[in-house]
Amino acid sequence: MAILVTGGAGYIGSHTCVELLNAGYDVVVLDNLSNASEKSLDRVEELSGKKVTFYKGDILDRDILNEIFAKEKIDSCIHFAGLKAVGESVAKPWEYYNNNIAGTLTLVDVMRQNGCKNIIFSSSATVYGDPAEIPITENCPKGQCTNPYGWTKSMLEQILSDMQKADNEWNVILLRYFNPIGAHPSGKMGENPNGIPNNLMPYITQVAVGKLKELGIFGDDYDTPDGTGVRDYIHVVDLALGHVKALKKIEEHAGLKIYNLGTGHGYSVLDIVKNFEKANDVKIPYSIKPRRPGDIATCYCDPSRAKTELGWEAQFGILEMCRDSWNWQKNNPNGYDD
Ligand code: NAD
Ligand code: UFG
Repeated sequence: MAILVTGGAGYIGSHTCVELLNAGYDVVVLDNLSNASEKSLDRVEELSGKKVTFYKGDILDRDILNEIFAKEKIDSCIHFAGLKAVGESVAKPWEYYNNNIAGTLTLVDVMRQNGCKNIIFSSSATVYGDPAEIPITENCPKGQCTNPYGWTKSMLEQILSDMQKADNEWNVILLRYFNPIGAHPSGKMGENPNGIPNNLMPYITQVAVGKLKELGIFGDDYDTPDGTGVRDYIHVVDLALGHVKALKKIEEHAGLKIYNLGTGHGYSVLDIVKNFEKANDVKIPYSIKPRRPGDIATCYCDPSRAKTELGWEAQFGILEMCRDSWNWQKNNPNGYDD
């Protein structure tokens, strides 16, 4: 059975490819490499000992999508491809709506024309906005997003849900990721951000490796135990395994399902700094900066639905996440660029 993995050369996609291959699936990747290196797929092959079929191309391009469906026997699609930088989305809303929304509309149209109606979609905790309840269950109402990136996720959830309701041959699983960090324990694959990282863990690892001087902590006056923002960090390999479990659910004709993928534990920014220092025996200098616009105080989930219905539960703890993030960064200070 072949799975089409859009965005499969990216951070979460590449880790998921390894786990899909390990689970016995054939993997076909479509990625335009706008935010990834093809070298990640060499590492996927090295780690799994199996081949990946790679198409360099865009989800907006019907021709390449039709070519893939004509040549490969695709049963399901795991759809990671998308632009994901929150700040950039505020500056370039059209580019985000076009890439993420028009891209997904094109993808699902070509899928249905080719009789493939199984999709797992990369959504985000961002759809909850400032969450109405903590821990966040899937029944928590969706909220107001603070940026176009978040709206693309919220709107795409609505679009895919409406399509499934109109045509129950579709199986649609919306996976709401919390904060993915960590890297493959081998140190051969990890996150490879362009420029100065926006997210906490890649920023910390670049401070640790000496590329950046100190971490700026965005606010210490939130209503949280130490005043810094609290998030539900999840190891990227656990997240990848969640996709394998979701595929099994698709094979049972899931209909429409929504799952939070997180650990259920909230850690503050200072908790992360302390755990990183403890796990790796390195010092992370930091200073307190003003709050970052659009940030919320606390965001962590109740992951029990994924446990009950998918048989999935995160296995890695925070020290392992910090260890693997650092292991990747120190062995590959320039990411996939030698
Ligand atoms: P990533 O940027 O590493 O991966 C996305 C991949 O999609 C990249 O390889 C990029 O080259 C590719 N891509 C983008 N637009 C494309 C297009 N039009 N056609 C073909 N390929 C395209 O990001 P990631 O962290 O691996 O995230 C994967 C998905 O998960 C994204 O949809 C993202 O929004 C979502 N997500 C990520 C996080 C996170 O914190 N990393 C949190 C929640 C949700
Ligand atoms: N933070 C800092 N300094 C930094 C970077 C982040 O203090 O240099 C803080 C933030 O203020 C926040 C926490 O670290 O309290 C986590 O920030 P991230 O940017 O790593 O993650 P977010 O929770 O803001 O956002 C992430 C993804 C989004 C996604 C969201 C919800 O980046 O794409 O989770 O899923 F929408």
